[in-house]
Amino acid sequence: MVLQREIPDLADPAFWRLPPGQRLEAFRVLRGLGAPVRCGDGSYALVRHRDVVEASRRPDIFLSGPGVTTPRPPGWVRRVFGDSMVNMDDPRHARLRGVVSRAFTPRVLARISGDVQRVASGIAGDVIAGRPDEFVAAVATRMPFEVICTMMGVPAAYRRELLGEILQAGEGTTVRRRLRVPGRSLRALARMHRVIGRVARQRRRAPADDLISALVAADLRGRELGAFFSLLMVAGVETTRNAIAHGLHLLSEHPDQRALLAADPDRHGPGFADEVVRHSSPIIQFRRTLARDHELGGRLLRAGDDVVLCYASANRDEDVFADPDRFDLTRRPNPHVGFGGGGPHFCLGTALARQELTVLFRELLTRLPDLRSVGEPELVPSSFDNRVGRLRFTY
Ligand code: HEM
Repeated sequence: MVLQREIPDLADPAFWRLPPGQRLEAFRVLRGLGAPVRCGDGSYALVRHRDVVEASRRPDIFLSGPGVTTPRPPGWVRRVFGDSMVNMDDPRHARLRGVVSRAFTPRVLARISGDVQRVASGIAGDVIAGRPDEFVAAVATRMPFEVICTMMGVPAAYRRELLGEILQAGEGTTVRRRLRVPGRSLRALARMHRVIGRVARQRRRAPADDLISALVAADLRGRELGAFFSLLMVAGVETTRNAIAHGLHLLSEHPDQRALLAADPDRHGPGFADEVVRHSSPIIQFRRTLARDHELGGRLLRAGDDVVLCYASANRDEDVFADPDRFDLTRRPNPHVGFGGGGPHFCLGTALARQELTVLFRELLTRLPDLRSVGEPELVPSSFDNRVGRLRFTY
């Protein structure tokens, strides 16, 4: 389908190779058109905040079951590795969410806050001792990875190989391939399933006080368990890793904001975390498929149509955010959609991600007061996540 020359096409892989500033400008043009815009592949882009929120909160009309990543994961991958809850509708989704949300209650988070602090303090100590100069591997990936492994109860012996897989995912792949396979390689997926299967067998014999034991006790097994673990590795590690890396760069570019955070990290930490997620949108977009005909934002959508919920655009919507390109950690309210637009799939790890960012930056800014990024982050082009491949740093 030929689109008018001046209307950006989000379905064109070339669009996702544009520099971030040009992409944001294209989103602004699309928002100005009003109604959802038809892309070259026939899907519709939801670029305005209110449209993303409406689609997120009407799961009876906007289905996740057909697959939320673009393009859809091949059927055989879903059969072999099982479906993760982001790609489910009720009643399957509600059942699984009911089980796993028990691991993310405020009480559980309060209980693991000591672990989060220990991980952050270990990372800061390793930076001081080892003097690494690349932030993504040395700090940003380790923080969420260690926290999730601790929550799940993954023994230290397995962590090294899993971390290696995560650090490699996306490296050495072409832009095209990264655009096609969001976030993970099949080899990494197979390895995660093997590891979790082994740990689950151990916990069935000897339960411990961890998430894997709770999931096994709730009769989650085999592919379902493996799919949940790999979802946490992608949804919980890669997103938070990118938020942490963008966070350091944003603080380095905005010394006034950095001074505010350093002066009172406990007070400003949560606002900082939310503003980093709004400004950087670690997940750029997710998809839904229409269950029936429905009018949204002045456009009649038909049953079977795909829509992409473009969080990265909604988070800069000038109708909702004053001066949307400004990085301002005191922004209140901050109704961003970086964790989703509400509704049943809203990010389960929101409070944990806020806690990780708050604790990590409190630790880093206190023990390494001159910490800052050097040069620009190396971004890995993707239509799915706002991934930082490498970020040099000094302190
Ligand atoms: C800055 C970090 C994070 C960002 C930006 C983020 C973003 C998102 C987004 C956009 C969704 C989809 C929401 C929707 O479809 O309405 C999601 C879902 C999810 N996230 Fe996060 N996330 C982050 C951290 C985490 C962490 C730390 C965990 C867990 C340890 C986690 C676990 C999940 C899970 C399990 C889902 C699926 C929920 C469902 O389908 O019911 N996320 N996240």
